[in-house]
Amino acid sequence: MDHFNDRDGLLHAEEVPLTEIAERFGTPCYVYSRATLERHWRAFERAFRDHPHLICFSVKSNSNLAVLNVLARLGSGFDIVSVGELERVLAAGGDPARVVFSGVGKRADEIRRALEVGIRCFNVESESELTRIDRIAGELGVRAPVSLRVNPDVDPQTHHYISTGLKENKFGIDIQEAESVYALAAAMPNLKVVGIDCHIGSQLTDLAPFIDALGRVLALADRLCASGIAIEHLDLGGGLGIRYREEHPPEPAAYAAAMSHLLADRPYEVILEPGRAIVGNAGVLLTQVEYLKHGPHKHFAILDAAMNDLLRPALYQAGHEIVRVVQETDADPSRYDLVGPVCETGDFLGKDRTLALEEGDLVAVRGAGAYGFTMSSNYNSRPRAAEVMVDGDRAYLVRAREQVADLYAGEQLLPSETPDAA
Ligand code: LLP
Repeated sequence: MDHFNDRDGLLHAEEVPLTEIAERFGTPCYVYSRATLERHWRAFERAFRDHPHLICFSVKSNSNLAVLNVLARLGSGFDIVSVGELERVLAAGGDPARVVFSGVGKRADEIRRALEVGIRCFNVESESELTRIDRIAGELGVRAPVSLRVNPDVDPQTHHYISTGLKENKFGIDIQEAESVYALAAAMPNLKVVGIDCHIGSQLTDLAPFIDALGRVLALADRLCASGIAIEHLDLGGGLGIRYREEHPPEPAAYAAAMSHLLADRPYEVILEPGRAIVGNAGVLLTQVEYLKHGPHKHFAILDAAMNDLLRPALYQAGHEIVRVVQETDADPSRYDLVGPVCETGDFLGKDRTLALEEGDLVAVRGAGAYGFTMSSNYNSRPRAAEVMVDGDRAYLVRAREQVADLYAGEQLLPSETPDAA
């Protein structure tokens, strides 16, 4: 459930009509609901209340400081994949002791900074990375807490671009080889082995792959324990799906119940890294119809938002619900492709949608809170959209719309004395 509802024929974010937001902040614009964010985070917290746990919000899904701050105030931890995400978490008031650092390509400077601020754990993805972390921790005179991210070879049955736990994926260490790599880690002087980590993919709508992966991780924990390597926590990653249009993903409570069943008598603290399930349906992309174009074969609604603002439809053929903001209209419904101004055939936000539209109408692309703004770009030299957070009856600008001058702020011409080509 989210807090974007129709009231008297007008789509609202909590108490604020989206028409008012468009007027104040312009379009395209991302609109987040604080109440929805908090509700979804608390759903995870409540679901795991009977088992020691830490919810680490996956920052890549939405890294706006206001979003991170709302979650930090609830006591959330954070899953990061770069020093940029780490600095965002710190700037938003997040606790470094509740940060786990994932990702296959951690640079030396990123590892150093994470050690300096004292993160909770590195989720290590290769032997080379272990060696690097051990060396840097030694230079700093600290012991680095590490988990190995294992690849359990489980098919998450999701879009192949967002499957991560199959043996052909670049992520993690093959679970069959994990024991020998754990032995290496345990022997390194500046590392402290604290956990096992596993993330099999995103937008999972079925519990079976999670259960399968956890079973394999628990078996590994047992084998490690037998060889004298004691594990404190299991990081089960993120991946729980949300409803975009027709999907019926399990609620966090059902997910937790399935996991708890397997974890019941185990001493391990559970770390989770949900992104989409917390923030996906806590945001919409508000956009205006610039033009309607009626051809002999197709009807197009050309919006002021494009694939550079929301890449998911173009990249994953993701279907987001698209709705009118003002219900009342004199227009007749037609079947539209809703497209943006970018010069790519793949630039669409929705295809074959039956909507009654007039030029100037506002529409909201729902389910845009996760992997929306964070995947946006300046392609076609389009300034990135504004971000607004609604809290009850107040709307706050939480990121200003980029200006054209921002687009080339770091660029330079060659010096004028450079000879021109003959
Ligand atoms: N932990 C790790 C190690 C991850 O790689 C991810 C997502 C998460 C947690 C959070 O997963 P979530 O709970 O959000 O499913 N851009 C794609 C999704 C890519 C997910 C990448 N990793 C999309 O728009 O569907």
